[in-house]
Amino acid sequence: MFKFQFNQKSRVEVPQVVPNHVGVIMDGNGRWAKKRMQPRIMGHKAGMEALHKVAKVANDMGVQVLTVYAFSTENWSRPQSEVSFIMNLPVDFYDNYVPELHKNNVKIQMIGDTDRLPEGTFTALRKAEELTKLNTGLILNFALNYGGRAEIIAAVQQIAQDVLDAKYSPDDIDEQLISDHLQTRSLPRTLRDPDLIIRTSGELRLSNFLPWQAAYSELYFTDVLWPDFDEAAFRDAILAYNKRKRRFGGI
Ligand code: FPP
Repeated sequence: MFKFQFNQKSRVEVPQVVPNHVGVIMDGNGRWAKKRMQPRIMGHKAGMEALHKVAKVANDMGVQVLTVYAFSTENWSRPQSEVSFIMNLPVDFYDNYVPELHKNNVKIQMIGDTDRLPEGTFTALRKAEELTKLNTGLILNFALNYGGRAEIIAAVQQIAQDVLDAKYSPDDIDEQLISDHLQTRSLPRTLRDPDLIIRTSGELRLSNFLPWQAAYSELYFTDVLWPDFDEAAFRDAILAYNKRKRRFGGI
């Protein structure tokens, strides 16, 4: 997308190219809280507020999809009280932020093994999806109980079954068919793969986040802890993206 209208009158450098799909690994909530001598859950609460800010600025900029890694399949191993707190965040988010996001035309979706979420968590997200399903602005796509390898395994199992059922032959299996079987099939076809993936808090890995879809994504790592990641930090990431040359294997 080649349009950008953000603070045109100010002297700050403004990006010319806005990535269509941005993925975010929201990391560093625990450390943020620890620095303030607060319990870890306060970091997650502040992380939810950061997410709200970033969703708003992404929507204003014209980003089309923002996929946020909110809970991985590995996160269940955390203390029960922390897991419960995180699982309650979508309920809070629905009550406090979804009405305004809805007014701003944001559409909420989710990926992950969402059937296994606690009922209240799932219901809050379902209600948000239902309320916003006709919106045409930013798609705020929550990855909750998401694991990239599990997603690929499920796709392969389905494809194998379809071959056994003679729906198609092994020769028909191509990138498009695989993409159509991943959980991101719920996104518009041209928007499934992130153009840019941001990870906060200084960790330099993808941690099972969209492994297939990230094949050609630009990666942006910052030391900023997620709760401190604000509009300006997001703009910095987009500016850095503007300086990349994407070749997709070409020259
Ligand atoms: C990673 O930081 C963060 C998480 C596992 C939870 C992320 C959740 C949010 C930001 C809120 C999402 C909002 C909704 C509505 C679902 P960490 O705890 O691993 O931090 P640390 O590495 O510093 O310990």
